[in-house]
Amino acid sequence: MERTRRLRQSEAMRGMVRENHVRVEELIYPLFIIEGRGICSPVDSMPGICQYSLDRLPEELDRVVNAGVKGVLLFGIPAHKDELGSGAYAEHGVVQEAIRFMKKEERYRDLVVIADVCLCEYTSHGHCGLVQDGKILNDETLPLLARAAVSYAQAGADIIAPSDMMDKRVAAIREALDENGFINTPIMAYSAKFASAFYGPFRDAAHSAPGFGDRKTYQMDPANGREALREVEEDIREGADIIIAKPAMAYLDIIKEISLNYNIPIAAYHVSGEYSMVKAAAAAGWIDEKKIVMEILTGFKRAGAKMIITYYALEAAEWIPK
Ligand code: PBG
Repeated sequence: MERTRRLRQSEAMRGMVRENHVRVEELIYPLFIIEGRGICSPVDSMPGICQYSLDRLPEELDRVVNAGVKGVLLFGIPAHKDELGSGAYAEHGVVQEAIRFMKKEERYRDLVVIADVCLCEYTSHGHCGLVQDGKILNDETLPLLARAAVSYAQAGADIIAPSDMMDKRVAAIREALDENGFINTPIMAYSAKFASAFYGPFRDAAHSAPGFGDRKTYQMDPANGREALREVEEDIREGADIIIAKPAMAYLDIIKEISLNYNIPIAAYHVSGEYSMVKAAAAAGWIDEKKIVMEILTGFKRAGAKMIITYYALEAAEWIPK
Protein backbone atom coordinates (compact mmCIF):
# COMPACT_ATOMS: atom_id res chain seq x y z
CA MET A 1 0.00 0.00 0.00
CA GLU A 2 1.22 3.48 -0.86
CA ARG A 3 2.37 5.41 2.23
CA THR A 4 4.28 8.59 1.34
CA ARG A 5 5.18 9.18 4.99
CA ARG A 6 7.59 6.19 4.92
CA LEU A 7 10.29 8.36 3.35
CA ARG A 8 9.83 11.28 5.76
CA GLN A 9 10.90 9.55 8.95
CA SER A 10 14.26 11.18 9.56
CA GLU A 11 16.26 14.12 8.28
CA ALA A 12 18.77 11.73 6.73
CA MET A 13 16.04 9.89 4.85
CA ARG A 14 14.37 13.11 3.76
CA GLY A 15 17.77 14.30 2.54
CA MET A 16 18.13 11.20 0.37
CA VAL A 17 14.90 11.83 -1.49
CA ARG A 18 15.09 15.63 -1.59
CA GLU A 19 14.58 16.73 -5.18
CA ASN A 20 15.90 20.30 -5.18
CA HIS A 21 18.67 22.23 -3.45
CA VAL A 22 19.70 25.85 -3.33
CA ARG A 23 23.43 26.06 -3.97
CA VAL A 24 25.74 28.97 -3.20
CA GLU A 25 27.32 28.85 -6.66
CA GLU A 26 23.94 29.52 -8.25
CA LEU A 27 23.30 32.75 -6.33
CA ILE A 28 23.81 36.15 -7.92
CA TYR A 29 24.01 39.29 -5.80
CA PRO A 30 22.91 42.70 -7.18
CA LEU A 31 25.11 45.72 -6.39
CA PHE A 32 24.29 49.42 -6.69
CA ILE A 33 27.31 51.54 -7.55
CA ILE A 34 26.93 55.27 -7.21
CA GLU A 35 29.17 57.95 -8.66
CA GLY A 36 31.10 59.95 -6.08
CA ARG A 37 33.42 59.24 -3.18
CA GLY A 38 33.05 57.96 0.35
CA ILE A 39 29.45 56.90 -0.16
CA CYS A 40 27.87 53.94 1.58
CA SER A 41 24.26 54.96 1.62
CA PRO A 42 21.58 52.58 2.97
CA VAL A 43 18.45 52.18 0.85
CA ASP A 44 15.56 52.84 3.26
CA SER A 45 13.11 50.53 1.55
CA MET A 46 15.66 47.68 1.32
CA PRO A 47 17.09 47.03 4.80
CA GLY A 48 20.66 45.73 4.55
CA ILE A 49 21.22 47.04 1.01
CA CYS A 50 23.40 50.08 0.30
CA GLN A 51 24.60 52.14 -2.61
CA TYR A 52 28.40 52.16 -2.72
CA SER A 53 30.79 54.53 -4.40
CA LEU A 54 33.71 52.79 -6.06
CA ASP A 55 36.16 53.57 -3.23
CA ARG A 56 33.82 51.92 -0.70
CA LEU A 57 32.85 48.99 -2.91
CA PRO A 58 35.65 46.69 -1.64
CA GLU A 59 33.90 46.44 1.76
CA GLU A 60 30.91 44.87 0.06
CA LEU A 61 32.94 42.85 -2.44
CA ASP A 62 34.87 41.30 0.46
CA ARG A 63 31.56 40.17 1.95
CA VAL A 64 30.61 38.64 -1.39
CA VAL A 65 33.90 36.76 -1.70
CA ASN A 66 33.83 35.63 1.93
CA ALA A 67 30.28 34.33 1.53
CA GLY A 68 31.42 32.23 -1.42
CA VAL A 69 28.98 33.94 -3.79
CA LYS A 70 30.37 33.82 -7.34
CA GLY A 71 28.23 36.24 -9.30
CA VAL A 72 27.33 39.92 -9.02
CA LEU A 73 24.88 41.97 -11.09
CA LEU A 74 25.89 45.61 -11.42
CA PHE A 75 23.62 48.65 -11.54
CA GLY A 76 25.01 52.16 -11.88
CA ILE A 77 23.76 55.45 -10.48
CA PRO A 78 25.41 58.29 -12.39
CA ALA A 79 25.94 61.81 -11.02
CA HIS A 80 24.32 63.29 -14.13
CA LYS A 81 21.43 62.06 -16.20
CA ASP A 82 20.45 63.24 -19.66
CA GLU A 83 17.86 62.59 -22.37
CA LEU A 84 20.08 60.07 -24.13
CA GLY A 85 21.22 58.14 -21.06
CA SER A 86 24.81 58.77 -22.07
CA GLY A 87 26.18 57.61 -18.71
CA ALA A 88 25.21 54.06 -19.69
CA TYR A 89 27.77 53.97 -22.49
CA ALA A 90 30.35 56.48 -21.25
CA GLU A 91 33.93 55.26 -21.47
CA HIS A 92 34.43 56.16 -17.79
CA GLY A 93 30.88 55.46 -16.65
CA VAL A 94 30.37 54.35 -13.07
CA VAL A 95 29.75 50.69 -13.97
CA GLN A 96 32.58 50.59 -16.52
CA GLU A 97 34.98 51.84 -13.85
CA ALA A 98 33.69 49.35 -11.29
CA ILE A 99 34.18 46.46 -13.71
CA ARG A 100 37.74 47.58 -14.55
CA PHE A 101 38.53 47.81 -10.85
CA MET A 102 37.16 44.34 -10.13
CA LYS A 103 39.05 42.76 -13.01
CA LYS A 104 42.30 44.45 -11.94
CA GLU A 105 42.13 43.28 -8.32
CA GLU A 106 43.22 39.71 -7.85
CA ARG A 107 40.80 39.20 -4.96
CA TYR A 108 37.71 40.01 -7.05
CA ARG A 109 38.83 38.94 -10.53
CA ASP A 110 37.14 35.55 -10.48
CA LEU A 111 33.70 36.90 -9.64
CA VAL A 112 31.33 36.54 -12.58
CA VAL A 113 30.54 40.16 -13.33
CA ILE A 114 27.14 40.62 -14.94
CA ALA A 115 26.42 44.09 -16.32
CA ASP A 116 22.76 45.12 -16.42
CA VAL A 117 22.11 46.98 -19.68
CA CYS A 118 19.35 49.57 -19.53
CA LEU A 119 18.96 53.31 -19.89
CA CYS A 120 16.51 54.03 -17.05
CA GLU A 121 19.15 54.77 -14.40
CA TYR A 122 20.86 57.15 -16.84
CA THR A 123 18.01 59.05 -18.50
CA SER A 124 16.59 62.31 -17.13
CA HIS A 125 13.06 61.00 -17.84
CA GLY A 126 13.73 57.63 -16.18
CA HIS A 127 12.52 55.49 -19.07
CA CYS A 128 14.40 52.48 -20.38
CA GLY A 129 14.57 53.85 -23.93
CA LEU A 130 14.70 57.14 -25.81
CA VAL A 131 11.61 59.32 -25.53
CA GLN A 132 9.97 61.47 -28.20
CA ASP A 133 6.61 63.20 -27.78
CA GLY A 134 5.88 61.14 -24.70
CA LYS A 135 6.50 57.83 -26.53
CA ILE A 136 9.26 55.36 -25.81
CA LEU A 137 11.14 54.73 -29.05
CA ASN A 138 12.21 51.18 -29.82
CA ASP A 139 14.55 50.94 -32.81
CA GLU A 140 16.25 54.26 -32.06
CA THR A 141 17.15 52.91 -28.60
CA LEU A 142 18.82 49.74 -29.88
CA PRO A 143 22.16 51.28 -30.95
CA LEU A 144 22.54 52.89 -27.53
CA LEU A 145 21.89 49.62 -25.72
CA ALA A 146 24.37 47.89 -28.02
CA ARG A 147 26.92 50.62 -27.32
CA ALA A 148 26.44 50.19 -23.56
CA ALA A 149 26.84 46.41 -23.89
CA VAL A 150 30.08 46.74 -25.87
CA SER A 151 31.51 49.26 -23.41
CA TYR A 152 30.80 46.93 -20.46
CA ALA A 153 32.38 44.05 -22.37
CA GLN A 154 35.43 46.19 -23.13
CA ALA A 155 35.71 47.04 -19.44
CA GLY A 156 35.78 43.29 -18.72
CA ALA A 157 32.18 42.26 -18.00
CA ASP A 158 31.69 38.49 -18.11
CA ILE A 159 27.98 38.53 -18.98
CA ILE A 160 25.69 41.19 -20.50
CA ALA A 161 22.14 41.40 -19.13
CA PRO A 162 19.71 43.61 -21.08
CA SER A 163 16.73 44.60 -18.91
CA ASP A 164 15.16 47.31 -21.06
CA MET A 165 12.51 45.15 -22.82
CA MET A 166 12.85 46.85 -26.22
CA ASP A 167 12.01 44.50 -29.08
CA LYS A 168 15.05 43.07 -30.94
CA ARG A 169 17.60 44.27 -28.43
CA VAL A 170 19.16 40.85 -27.95
CA ALA A 171 19.90 40.66 -31.69
CA ALA A 172 21.30 44.19 -31.71
CA ILE A 173 23.52 43.49 -28.71
CA ARG A 174 24.66 40.09 -30.02
CA GLU A 175 25.65 41.61 -33.34
CA ALA A 176 27.53 44.49 -31.72
CA LEU A 177 29.36 42.19 -29.31
CA ASP A 178 30.38 39.87 -32.16
CA GLU A 179 31.56 42.73 -34.35
CA ASN A 180 33.74 43.98 -31.54
CA GLY A 181 35.35 40.62 -30.91
CA PHE A 182 33.23 39.51 -27.97
CA ILE A 183 31.79 36.37 -29.53
CA ASN A 184 32.24 34.51 -26.25
CA THR A 185 30.47 37.03 -24.02
CA PRO A 186 27.11 35.51 -23.03
CA ILE A 187 23.82 37.41 -22.99
CA MET A 188 21.54 36.89 -20.02
CA ALA A 189 18.27 38.33 -21.30
CA TYR A 190 15.49 39.65 -19.10
CA SER A 191 12.99 38.00 -21.42
CA ALA A 192 9.93 37.54 -19.25
CA LYS A 193 10.02 40.85 -17.44
CA PHE A 194 6.67 42.08 -16.22
CA ALA A 195 5.49 45.66 -15.56
CA SER A 196 5.47 45.04 -11.84
CA ALA A 197 4.86 47.01 -8.65
CA PHE A 198 7.42 44.72 -7.04
CA TYR A 199 10.21 46.91 -8.50
CA GLY A 200 9.27 49.86 -6.26
CA PRO A 201 12.15 49.62 -3.78
CA PHE A 202 14.68 49.08 -6.62
CA ARG A 203 13.67 52.40 -8.10
CA ASP A 204 14.52 54.04 -4.76
CA ALA A 205 17.87 52.26 -4.81
CA ALA A 206 18.71 52.99 -8.44
CA HIS A 207 16.99 56.40 -8.71
CA SER A 208 15.24 55.07 -11.80
CA ALA A 209 11.51 55.72 -11.38
CA PRO A 210 9.96 56.95 -14.64
CA GLY A 211 9.41 60.71 -14.56
CA PHE A 212 6.08 60.36 -16.37
CA GLY A 213 3.75 57.49 -17.17
CA ASP A 214 4.77 53.89 -16.55
CA ARG A 215 6.61 51.05 -18.26
CA LYS A 216 3.53 49.24 -19.57
CA THR A 217 4.29 49.85 -23.25
CA TYR A 218 7.50 47.83 -23.02
CA GLN A 219 7.36 45.58 -19.95
CA MET A 220 4.87 42.71 -20.01
CA ASP A 221 1.30 42.68 -18.74
CA PRO A 222 1.26 40.64 -15.48
CA ALA A 223 -1.83 38.81 -16.75
CA ASN A 224 0.01 37.20 -19.69
CA GLY A 225 1.68 33.81 -19.39
CA ARG A 226 1.55 32.53 -22.97
CA GLU A 227 3.04 35.79 -24.23
CA ALA A 228 6.04 35.25 -21.94
CA LEU A 229 6.90 32.16 -23.95
CA ARG A 230 6.89 34.22 -27.16
CA GLU A 231 9.31 36.67 -25.54
CA VAL A 232 11.56 33.80 -24.52
CA GLU A 233 11.41 32.16 -27.93
CA GLU A 234 12.28 35.41 -29.65
CA ASP A 235 15.22 36.11 -27.34
CA ILE A 236 16.61 32.60 -27.80
CA ARG A 237 16.34 33.04 -31.57
CA GLU A 238 18.18 36.36 -31.29
CA GLY A 239 21.02 34.77 -29.36
CA ALA A 240 20.23 34.78 -25.63
CA ASP A 241 22.29 32.29 -23.60
CA ILE A 242 20.41 32.57 -20.31
CA ILE A 243 16.80 33.64 -19.73
CA ILE A 244 15.67 35.75 -16.77
CA ALA A 245 12.13 35.55 -15.40
CA LYS A 246 11.16 38.49 -13.22
CA PRO A 247 9.64 38.98 -10.68
CA ALA A 248 9.83 35.43 -9.38
CA MET A 249 7.45 34.63 -6.52
CA ALA A 250 4.19 35.69 -8.14
CA TYR A 251 5.45 34.29 -11.47
CA LEU A 252 6.54 30.74 -10.61
CA ASP A 253 4.25 29.45 -13.34
CA ILE A 254 6.30 31.42 -15.88
CA ILE A 255 9.54 29.84 -14.65
CA LYS A 256 7.93 26.41 -14.83
CA GLU A 257 6.58 26.95 -18.33
CA ILE A 258 9.93 28.19 -19.63
CA SER A 259 11.72 25.21 -18.09
CA LEU A 260 9.26 22.76 -19.64
CA ASN A 261 9.43 24.35 -23.08
CA TYR A 262 13.05 25.44 -23.57
CA ASN A 263 16.39 23.81 -22.93
CA ILE A 264 18.24 26.89 -21.70
CA PRO A 265 19.41 27.97 -18.23
CA ILE A 266 16.86 30.11 -16.39
CA ALA A 267 17.61 32.75 -13.78
CA ALA A 268 14.84 33.68 -11.34
CA TYR A 269 15.07 37.34 -10.31
CA HIS A 270 13.81 37.59 -6.72
CA VAL A 271 13.21 41.32 -6.97
CA SER A 272 13.41 44.25 -4.58
CA GLY A 273 9.77 44.30 -3.46
CA GLU A 274 9.86 40.58 -2.72
CA TYR A 275 12.95 41.15 -0.60
CA SER A 276 11.54 44.16 1.24
CA MET A 277 8.28 42.41 2.15
CA VAL A 278 10.14 39.58 3.84
CA LYS A 279 12.50 42.00 5.58
CA ALA A 280 9.57 44.03 6.90
CA ALA A 281 7.67 41.02 8.19
CA ALA A 282 10.85 39.64 9.76
CA ALA A 283 11.61 42.96 11.46
CA ALA A 284 8.12 42.90 12.96
CA GLY A 285 8.85 39.44 14.32
CA TRP A 286 5.99 37.89 12.36
CA ILE A 287 7.92 35.28 10.39
CA ASP A 288 11.05 33.16 10.64
CA GLU A 289 13.20 35.00 8.10
CA LYS A 290 15.73 32.26 7.44
CA LYS A 291 13.13 29.53 6.95
CA ILE A 292 10.93 31.73 4.80
CA VAL A 293 13.79 32.78 2.55
CA MET A 294 15.11 29.25 2.08
CA GLU A 295 11.59 28.06 1.28
CA ILE A 296 11.16 30.82 -1.32
CA LEU A 297 14.53 30.14 -2.96
CA THR A 298 13.85 26.39 -2.99
CA GLY A 299 10.53 27.14 -4.69
CA PHE A 300 12.42 28.86 -7.53
CA LYS A 301 14.57 25.76 -7.99
CA ARG A 302 11.52 23.47 -7.90
CA ALA A 303 9.86 25.63 -10.58
CA GLY A 304 12.88 25.10 -12.83
CA ALA A 305 15.26 27.99 -12.21
CA LYS A 306 18.97 27.27 -12.41
CA MET A 307 20.30 30.55 -11.04
CA ILE A 308 18.76 32.91 -8.51
CA ILE A 309 19.37 36.64 -8.49
CA THR A 310 18.56 37.81 -4.96
CA TYR A 311 19.35 40.58 -2.49
CA TYR A 312 19.38 37.75 0.06
CA ALA A 313 22.38 36.07 -1.64
CA LEU A 314 24.91 36.85 1.11
CA GLU A 315 22.58 35.82 3.93
CA ALA A 316 21.35 32.75 2.08
CA ALA A 317 24.95 31.68 1.48
CA GLU A 318 25.31 31.48 5.27
CA TRP A 319 22.03 29.63 5.70
CA ILE A 320 22.56 26.95 3.06
CA PRO A 321 23.53 23.71 4.84
CA LYS A 322 27.21 22.95 4.22
C1 PBG B 1 16.02 48.36 -15.01
C2 PBG B 1 15.75 47.33 -13.98
C3 PBG B 1 14.74 47.29 -13.00
C4 PBG B 1 14.99 46.18 -12.22
C5 PBG B 1 16.10 45.54 -12.75
N1 PBG B 1 16.55 46.25 -13.84
C6 PBG B 1 13.67 48.26 -12.68
C7 PBG B 1 12.58 48.52 -13.61
O1 PBG B 1 12.42 47.86 -14.64
O2 PBG B 1 11.86 49.48 -13.32
C8 PBG B 1 14.20 45.78 -11.01
C9 PBG B 1 14.92 44.93 -10.03
C10 PBG B 1 14.31 44.85 -8.68
O3 PBG B 1 13.18 45.30 -8.41
O4 PBG B 1 14.99 44.29 -7.81
N2 PBG B 1 15.18 48.37 -16.08
